[in-house]
Amino acid sequence: MKTVRIVVTDYIEPDLEWERAQLASSPVDFEAFQLKFSSREDLLAGIRDAHVLIVNMVDINREIIQNLPSCRLIIRHGVGYDNIDVPAATEHGIQVSYIPDYCREEVAEQAMMLLLACRRKFTKQQESLEVSVKKGQWDFSSVGAIRRFSGTKAGIVGCGRIGSLMVRMLRGFGIEVMVHDPYLSEARQAELGIRCISLEEVLRKADMVTIHPALSHETKYMIAERELRMMKPTAILVNTARGAIVNAAALARACKEGWIAGAGIDVFEKEPPEGGFVLRGIPNVILTPHLAWYSEDAGLSIREKIMEDIRRFLEGRPPRFPINSVGPKE
Ligand SMILES: NC(=O)c1ccc[n+]([C@@H]2O[C@H](COP(=O)([O-])OP(=O)(O)OC[C@H]3O[C@@H](n4cnc5c(N)ncnc54)[C@H](O)[C@@H]3O)[C@@H](O)[C@H]2O)c1
Repeated sequence: MKTVRIVVTDYIEPDLEWERAQLASSPVDFEAFQLKFSSREDLLAGIRDAHVLIVNMVDINREIIQNLPSCRLIIRHGVGYDNIDVPAATEHGIQVSYIPDYCREEVAEQAMMLLLACRRKFTKQQESLEVSVKKGQWDFSSVGAIRRFSGTKAGIVGCGRIGSLMVRMLRGFGIEVMVHDPYLSEARQAELGIRCISLEEVLRKADMVTIHPALSHETKYMIAERELRMMKPTAILVNTARGAIVNAAALARACKEGWIAGAGIDVFEKEPPEGGFVLRGIPNVILTPHLAWYSEDAGLSIREKIMEDIRRFLEGRPPRFPINSVGPKE
């Protein structure tokens, strides 16, 4: 059997020794790089002759794809695959796959954490404790009004793997859920016990809105000034999906000027955000560093699932979650 060259463009694990050990007895040449910030030339020098590419954050655009003559499979290490030009890959006969099923619980838990932290004014409570310690007596004056979490209405935008778990978690808190997802089948709505409504209705009625679609031409900036102005001044917005779904400049104004009560954001259009990022330093905005996916359990799970796709490739079988459909490559 011909040696298969498997190249990792960039990775977040401390090392990839587990992967090497797994592949030790296979006819595989496994090489791992950290090419996220490399020049185009260095990137291509590392990956040009790969048969399989495993990509975390590196931008695999059309120009790069045109220079991968041997490549048959690109595995995106993660759920979103907006850093890979899938149409270009399809044109060049390259299968693209991803791992959409490794951190569903974690992202829903992070969204719940942000919803609770915003509603219960977690950062204000911490500040209040520090002030009280200094004064030697409780001073809650800076906290402001906190409203009960249960008994409220939550809007879920996008009800796929993660959004549907949010339905269950929110109901566990005694919250009424409203869902906007134009692509959810009647059968799935019945299964979840929901009836999808328009985005406008969700935004106008919800006490909190949590965002869960994939980033696409359709969802880019789907929450901008117009939509934020539809929300209640007491409502909060949480985004753990993709930064560009929400217009950050409009959200910053909404939080500063009181169109809404606050926001919890895990994802950014440019990652990590720059020092002057508009949402930094706003007291009613909680930012987390795109870590919703993370737990030790999810970190292990994604490695096992990528390894399964590599094994399937070596056996001539399709990946678990193919994104595109390709014919045999010459
Ligand atoms: N923050 C993190 O660490 C992290 C980790 C994993 C996933 N994510 C992100 O979470 C999001 C959801 O992931 P998922 O696995 O649940 O995806 P999914 O594909 O299972 O679900 C997405 C849902 O959005 C719906 N949708 C599509 N267009 C829509 C629109 N215009 N309006 C409303 N809904 C629309 C789809 O019908 C689908 O039901 C993705 O953006 C993904 O990149 C983030």
